[in-house]
Amino acid sequence: MRYFITGTAGFIGFHLARRLLQEGHQVTGYDGMTAYYNLRLKEARVAGLTQFPAFTGVTAMLEDRAVLEKAIEAAKPDVIIHLAAQAGVRYSLENPKAYLDSNLVGSWNIIDIARQIGIGHLMLASTSSIYGANPDVPFRELDRADEPMTFYAASKKGMELMAHSYAHLYKVPTTAFRFFTVYGPWGRPDMALFKFMKAMLAGDPIEIYGEGQMSRDFTYIDDLIESVIRLSGIAPSEDNRVAGVDTLSHNAPFRIVNIGGGEPVALMDFIETLEQVMGAPAKRTMLPMQKGDVPRTFASPDLLLGLTGQKPSTSLIDGVKATVEWYREHYRELEL
Ligand SMILES: NC(=O)c1ccc[n+]([C@@H]2O[C@H](COP(=O)([O-])OP(=O)(O)OC[C@H]3O[C@@H](n4cnc5c(N)ncnc54)[C@H](O)[C@@H]3O)[C@@H](O)[C@H]2O)c1
Repeated sequence: MRYFITGTAGFIGFHLARRLLQEGHQVTGYDGMTAYYNLRLKEARVAGLTQFPAFTGVTAMLEDRAVLEKAIEAAKPDVIIHLAAQAGVRYSLENPKAYLDSNLVGSWNIIDIARQIGIGHLMLASTSSIYGANPDVPFRELDRADEPMTFYAASKKGMELMAHSYAHLYKVPTTAFRFFTVYGPWGRPDMALFKFMKAMLAGDPIEIYGEGQMSRDFTYIDDLIESVIRLSGIAPSEDNRVAGVDTLSHNAPFRIVNIGGGEPVALMDFIETLEQVMGAPAKRTMLPMQKGDVPRTFASPDLLLGLTGQKPSTSLIDGVKATVEWYREHYRELEL
C-alpha cells in the first residue's frame, strides 16, 4: 500500500511510518520541522526513516499549499494519515495563532487535497482534550463534546467538523481518532513523563500540577500504532457500523474513534511507577491546576474494540520501563 503521512518527524508519525516501512509499504512523510521542541530529536527520527528505500521525505509546512499538493499527487496514496499539528495544551495559551495556522488552515489543505485526488481513506489525529472537563466517564465518542477548555481543543474540534462536511459533500471516507496521552520511546519532551525523567536524572524537583489530583488514560505508543493500522483498513461505511456505540455519521462516510485503553491512572500512582522504574524517589513540588488543564481523561474503548477487536493494553510499568530505558540511552546525544 502507499501511505501519505504528515508529521513524520514527530513522535507518533515517526513510529507509524517506521512500522509501515518495516511491513513493506511505501511511505511519503511530510513535516515542517517546526521549532516547537528539540530539533535534534526530530532530525534523528527522520534519519531513522530515510534508511528505508521505500521512504520519501518532504520538509515543508502544511500551509504551503502548492508544495503539499505536489507531494500528495506524486505519492499517489491509498491512505492519507494526517498527524502533523501544533500539539500541546499549555502552549495554546501562549501562541494560539500556531494552532490556527497548523490545525485549521493546514488541516483544511489536507482535507481539500484529499477530496481533489479522491482518496480511499483519510485519517485525522484529534484529541481527548475535546471532551474538556466532562464529568461523565468514560468519555464516549457519542457524548456531547463542544465545550473545549483550550484553543488547542477548539482547533481540533474545528478540524473534525470541517472533515465531516467534506465527507458528506464529496464522499471522502474519513476517520478521526481521538488520542489519549500517548507515551513511549522517542516521545515528546514537552510532555510530563519526559519532563519528569529529565528532572529526576538531574536531581531537580518534578512539578506536579493540580496538587496531584489528576488522572490520565495513558496509551503506549506501540498499542496506538496497532490501532491506527487496523483502522486504516476500515474506511467508514454502513457495512462496518458497530451497533450501539458507533459515531458513523448518518449523512457521510465519517467516524470518530477513541484510541485509549479505558484504564486511567492517578497522577500520584503514575509518579510512583516512575520512581520504581528509575530506582529513586523524586523530589516533588506541588503546584495548583494550570489554566486549561482538565482533571481527568478516561476513554471508552468500546467502539475501537468493536471495529478492530483490539485496544491498548500494555501495562503502565512495562511502558514506562521501555521509555526510561530509551531515555537513559539517548538523552545525552539528543540533548533532551
Ligand atoms: N502525543 C499525544 O499524547 C497526543 C494526544 C492527543 C492528540 N495528539 C495528536 O497526534 C498528532 C501527533 O502528535 P505527536 O505527539 O506526534 O506530536 P509531535 O509534535 O511530536 O509531531 C507533530 C509534527 O508535526 C509537525 N508540524 C507541526 N505543524 C506543522 C505544519 N503546520 N506543517 C507541517 N508540519 C507541522 C511538527 O514539526 C512535528 O514533527 C497531533 O495531531 C496531535 O495533536 C497527540
